[in-house]
Amino acid sequence: MRPPEELRSHQWYGTDGLRSFSHRARTRQLGYLPEEHLGKPVIAILNTWSDINPCHVHLRDRAQAVKRGVWQAGGFPLEFPVSTLSETFQKPTPMLYRNLLSMETEELLRSYPVDGAVLLGGCDKTTPALLMGAASADLPTVFVPAGPMLPGHWRNEVLGSGTDMWKYWDDKRAGLIGDCEMAELENGLARSPGHCMTMGTASTLTAAAEALGVTMPGASAIPAVDSGHDRMAAASGLRIVELVHQDLKLSKLLTAEAYEDAVATVLALGGSTNAVIHLIAMAGRSGVRLTLDDFDRIARTVPVLANLRPGGQYLMEDFHFAGGLPAFLAQLTDVLHLDRPTVAHDTLREQLANAVVHNPEVIRPREKPLAEEGGVAVLRGNLCPDGAVIKHIAAEPHLLRHTGPAVVFDDYRHMQSTINDPALGITADHVLVLRNSGPQGGPGMPEYGMLPIPDHLLKQGVRDMVRISDARMSGTSYGTCVLHVAPESYVGGPLALVRTGDLITLDVEARSLHLDVSDEELERRREAWTPPPARYGRGYGALYSEQITQADTGCDFAFLAREGEVPDPYAG
Ligand code: FES
Repeated sequence: MRPPEELRSHQWYGTDGLRSFSHRARTRQLGYLPEEHLGKPVIAILNTWSDINPCHVHLRDRAQAVKRGVWQAGGFPLEFPVSTLSETFQKPTPMLYRNLLSMETEELLRSYPVDGAVLLGGCDKTTPALLMGAASADLPTVFVPAGPMLPGHWRNEVLGSGTDMWKYWDDKRAGLIGDCEMAELENGLARSPGHCMTMGTASTLTAAAEALGVTMPGASAIPAVDSGHDRMAAASGLRIVELVHQDLKLSKLLTAEAYEDAVATVLALGGSTNAVIHLIAMAGRSGVRLTLDDFDRIARTVPVLANLRPGGQYLMEDFHFAGGLPAFLAQLTDVLHLDRPTVAHDTLREQLANAVVHNPEVIRPREKPLAEEGGVAVLRGNLCPDGAVIKHIAAEPHLLRHTGPAVVFDDYRHMQSTINDPALGITADHVLVLRNSGPQGGPGMPEYGMLPIPDHLLKQGVRDMVRISDARMSGTSYGTCVLHVAPESYVGGPLALVRTGDLITLDVEARSLHLDVSDEELERRREAWTPPPARYGRGYGALYSEQITQADTGCDFAFLAREGEVPDPYAG
């Protein structure tokens, strides 16, 4: 047990001065007796609950379970509402606001009398945002993943979030199903609170958090409405108080080894391409340099072992019953750094010691992988000098080596309004190119990367084409989609210079993306190119545009990503 004088919150509550007198008086105003809180670790529970966010709508209750655990362990819990980033509802994309939530998290933890933090979230950008901010604040921290929603159901079929929405939407466009079926699907796609239950971005990032060692073991796959989720939240509350007494700060967990393990985990899960951007940004906040090349290098050392949609067959509840992430990581012990600590154990080795796979169809053994290599490949070439990514395990194999003429769309609206125009003469061999969808051009790099297949091709049975953009793609999406092209077209990257009819060659095995246009001609086009006008005249968007970095470096704000001292707030 650390003596109260060593706690950070002591400066607020425990000294003889006027400030502490005032803070104690105001805590009595909150209704607490001095013996309920004085000298106890103050635990901030950062809650991303909101009425608008179906992925987090149960977190109001979970915060109560965390509080239960904190009280039980002798801490003083205080809940703080923070921004909610709802992937479904927030436009143009919650990615525009990831860094804002990270700033809110960091500054809130720094400016209040907080000794340790429990972070509640899980919908896509929430996990990296909370952990980026917490890494910068560097207090003892436990992350409570929101948990996946229950599997979807329709006419005795199991439905996966996103993945089956795209699939049936395409079937509707192809005339295979009608309004009646769509109305039934609307009822069956999302049946409970919780985040998307495929291995989409949310499940990928919460699994990454668990692999980093900042959640209780197995936490990331527990369904949101399972009573085990309540128990996990209470256990997180109990544990955070112990971590404060041990002074186990986040920086002791978020090491270079931990990030390498998180990358290996994401790749072996066949997880979302969004994890590439987020893990690079999170590592940056931890002072760890993680690059696109690290993903490509590690991808060649790990097979895909999770048979989960969109790349596989099952859903997160199946994964939980199969043993969850501990059982999954136990298949990868030869590539993991097992001697590093986690919030729950002195070493990851200890954490995985008793993990057992209960269903080898869901968590495949090493000798029966879904793919021999990890799920993401990094491409280079004259079209993406700073890199691009493709989730090749979710693509049609025959398209992984393909040359075709480009059809260029200047932005998302242009694409939407013209893609079905017969005058474009689009065939299955064409390469669809979308620009102005990157960090600045989107803005916020919206998930436009799975460009729709034109209606006339859908009716012919075409379900995949080569598509290239500086956008991101939902983790629940699929197809031969080259994403995150850097530098983006909006700032003059080579994607801005492509013209309809130019030949483009994708060769995933060679990790190459090539525009078949001479350097001289590209230079002529570059000289003729004019930058688009600034999007934001004022407000947060103006700050975003000024500070956002490119996809290959994680899209953090330059001023947040750099090194530098921040004074103790109590020094002033
Ligand atoms: Fe929240 Fe998919 S919409 S995780």
